[in-house]
Amino acid sequence: MDGNGRWARQRGLPRTQGHRAGARSVRAVVEQSVRCGIEVLTLFAFSSENWRRPQTEVSLLMELFLNTLRVEINRLMEHDVRLRIIGDLSAFSEKLQRQVREAERVTRNNSTLILQIAANYGGRWDITQAVRALALEVAEQRLLPEQIDEQAIAARLSCADAPDPDLFIRTGGEKRISNFLLWQCAYTELYFSDLMWPEFDGDAYLAALNDFSRRQRRFGLTGEQVNALAEA
Ligand code: IPE
Ligand code: MG
Repeated sequence: MDGNGRWARQRGLPRTQGHRAGARSVRAVVEQSVRCGIEVLTLFAFSSENWRRPQTEVSLLMELFLNTLRVEINRLMEHDVRLRIIGDLSAFSEKLQRQVREAERVTRNNSTLILQIAANYGGRWDITQAVRALALEVAEQRLLPEQIDEQAIAARLSCADAPDPDLFIRTGGEKRISNFLLWQCAYTELYFSDLMWPEFDGDAYLAALNDFSRRQRRFGLTGEQVNALAEA
């Protein structure tokens, strides 16, 4: 979700107003996901690197996060959405951590959409914590080094039980992954929109999904092999 600050600046508003406007796009995209039958939606809300922003902006983002959680919980229940936060939550205030755990608990039996919010998340952090978990298991002799394969690593990543993402969408015109789900995005289709995140509404999201549906995913095979598999 990129471009909140620029969207606000273009309108002569403080960056923080852009973040508030961005919250509306979150609602639109979540609701469109439910309508379209998307099973898992992951939003990159706050990266491990965002702490380096001005203190006032970081505080506003935290406050917005907290308020949105509180206000939106009923809507999540209404739409049967299960919430999960991924990332290193230990850096957040006790209050925010409590609220997050509570929201996850309340929505745990919902199953139409899994909504994952990446907060204080980084793809490298995720791989690092998985590797550390493996090292610990080896040190405690619960695992042999030769048992470490791709599956063993994947199983210890943040969203181990969710499938790898099919589609990655970045708004705001930048064409990079910026430390999002690095391991999980190995075969993900990438989509870049020049719209700023507050402008990215349900229709813009639908356009991205339509673009995705026209792509051929080969996973290393030839186009002919993929066509033959589709016909079989
Ligand atoms: C939102 O957009 C991303 C968040 C960290 C919430 P930005 O704040 O990165 O907006 P730009 O890139 O400065 O326009
Ligand atoms: Mg940005």
